Amino acid sequence: MDTLLIFGAAGQLGAECAALFRDRFRLVPLDLADLDVGDPGQCRAALELHRPDIVLNCAAYTRVDDAESRPALARAVNAVAPGVMAEWTETRQAMLVHISTDFVFDGAKPPPDMYVEDDQPNPLSVYGQTKLEGEKAIRERTGRFAILRTAWLYGRTGANFPKTMLRLAQAQPERTLRVVNDQLGSPTCAWRLARQIARVLEARATGLFHASSDGACTWHDFACAFLDAMDIPHRIVPCSTADYPTPARRPPNSVLRNRALQEAGLDLMPDWREDMAAFAQRHREAILEETRSNP
Ligand SMILES: NC(=O)c1ccc[n+]([C@@H]2O[C@H](COP(=O)([O-])OP(=O)(O)OC[C@H]3O[C@@H](n4cnc5c(N)ncnc54)[C@H](OP(=O)(O)O)[C@@H]3O)[C@@H](O)[C@H]2O)c1
Repeated sequence: MDTLLIFGAAGQLGAECAALFRDRFRLVPLDLADLDVGDPGQCRAALELHRPDIVLNCAAYTRVDDAESRPALARAVNAVAPGVMAEWTETRQAMLVHISTDFVFDGAKPPPDMYVEDDQPNPLSVYGQTKLEGEKAIRERTGRFAILRTAWLYGRTGANFPKTMLRLAQAQPERTLRVVNDQLGSPTCAWRLARQIARVLEARATGLFHASSDGACTWHDFACAFLDAMDIPHRIVPCSTADYPTPARRPPNSVLRNRALQEAGLDLMPDWREDMAAFAQRHREAILEETRSNP
């Protein structure tokens, strides 16, 4: 049985992957409590200790706004660490699966145009820039990699946008929430992405893949659709990005087309509404309990 080492195994995606891969591999799930991947020495030591056949890197500095004031930290985790992993996997002839982001693009394409794998990246934020540097660091060091760029990820574990909306709607039902309605993206369920990663691994596919759910919406649409699916009354009104300034700039249209997965016959990603409805149904009670008890 192959050994699969997951970095970031306690995060949204890492937790889904750990659950899915537990029976398929000898699993080594590691997270920040075990090591700091941003420290090359610690990262190499973990790899040397466990000698995985496959490294799945779900670890990242994902606080997009905080990254603007902490670029060195974001770069260590998002750019330097993937390079260290790639160097190690290349030497040991292991496989590296890495996760990147729609935020490598500037989002200037006019909708309904979508970004494909060979479109030119042009990140607007430190987070996007460091994630792009991570992709480059991998490509420069090994050919045995699969990089999956995903978008607007949410899952059962950890903090995410739909949970924040639910928390606010429950804590202050009379409050009107203003949510940005001029950024387009594709909400993607971590449960589904874990299965897409499994498919890529089974096929031994390598290269760069866009891997987000089909279809697109704004944050406003996403919030309304999720609370409706959860059957929670809400007062959500649209606002513009200019009305809701944030430290990091975000792409206005970062909708990805999974062209490389489609051409390889590997695309498993359904419409975002389908997975969101299934997520709400599957986890309704647990998420309500979590967001109620932790306002
Ligand atoms: N979330 C999104 O909307 C989104 C969109 C597009 C792409 N992505 C990409 O998808 C991947 C998975 O994202 P996610 O949402 O699952 O992220 P997440 O929930 O933030 O999980 C990342 C995990 O990595 C851990 N981590 C952070 N710094 C670390 C370090 N120095 N050493 C070891 N572990 C560290 C985090 O620990 P702590 O929580 O303790 O910091 C966390 O458990 C990332 O590559 C991300 O860039 C995410």
